[in-house]
Amino acid sequence: MSVIRALFSRLENARLLDPVAEAVADAVHQTIPNSRVADLLHGRWLGHPVHPILVQIPVGAWASATVLDFMPGSRVAARRLVGLGLLTAPAAVAAGLTDWADMEPDQRRVGLVHATANTVGITFYAASWTARKQGRQLAGVGYALLGLTAIGVGGALGGHLAYSQAGGVNHAESALRRAGDGWHDLGPLDQIPIGEPIRREVGDTTVVVYRRHLRSGGGVHVLASECSHVGGPLHEGEVTDGPGEPRITCPWHGSVFRLVDGEPLRGPATACQPVFQTEIVAGRLRVRASAEGSVWKNAEV
Ligand code: FES
Repeated sequence: MSVIRALFSRLENARLLDPVAEAVADAVHQTIPNSRVADLLHGRWLGHPVHPILVQIPVGAWASATVLDFMPGSRVAARRLVGLGLLTAPAAVAAGLTDWADMEPDQRRVGLVHATANTVGITFYAASWTARKQGRQLAGVGYALLGLTAIGVGGALGGHLAYSQAGGVNHAESALRRAGDGWHDLGPLDQIPIGEPIRREVGDTTVVVYRRHLRSGGGVHVLASECSHVGGPLHEGEVTDGPGEPRITCPWHGSVFRLVDGEPLRGPATACQPVFQTEIVAGRLRVRASAEGSVWKNAEV
């Protein structure tokens, strides 16, 4: 195991960070005024986490400032870029904290140190901007280099969080592929309870099956059960059904998905939940992986 990998591994298992992480996550949940603001910061409206997009602006501005610091006649432009980074960093921080607060403990530990390194970096850049404004150019350049180093460490930890710990990835992405091609038999329709989500297996994919009451419109909905957010079991979730569109709430962090097409109606999930096509043949329920996510209803239901 490489030294870096060993360090990251120790960090993932550093349970002594948990009390701090818990307290900060609670503070984040209490600070966010409502689920609309949380969804805005998660990126549900975009169908993609916004944190990795927002960080490009301050990091790009600060890296560019350091390049300009070594080019004659670029002092003002460099100072402005440092300022631009400081102005745009809070949005990236807010989005990152909102995502982080709904992560798993091992991800939170790495995320906590990632956020701490970035906070140190932002502090150095604030000092850099102040020094430049006061005409202390050399100090400003020095603080910026320290800031870039801290941000680089934070970036490496963020990369580990995303690529190695799957923080922020779509956990349901491969569900349709793992289900395999063609139609799959899920047994007699009359053995599927009405108005109650149940678990079934389709190929290597666990799915949630929900059969609606006829008075609510009838039909059978089948979605991948592994929540796109962090993989929570949707078959253990609660379905809200009635005259409108049925929806299911993930039991882990409360993401809400529309059953008909898997659209996330409330985060932290930002990606759609994969949906299977359904049909009834000779009284048996059959499902098929559907890239289009459409649902077939049948009069027999
Ligand atoms: S696993 Fe987090 S909302 Fe489902």
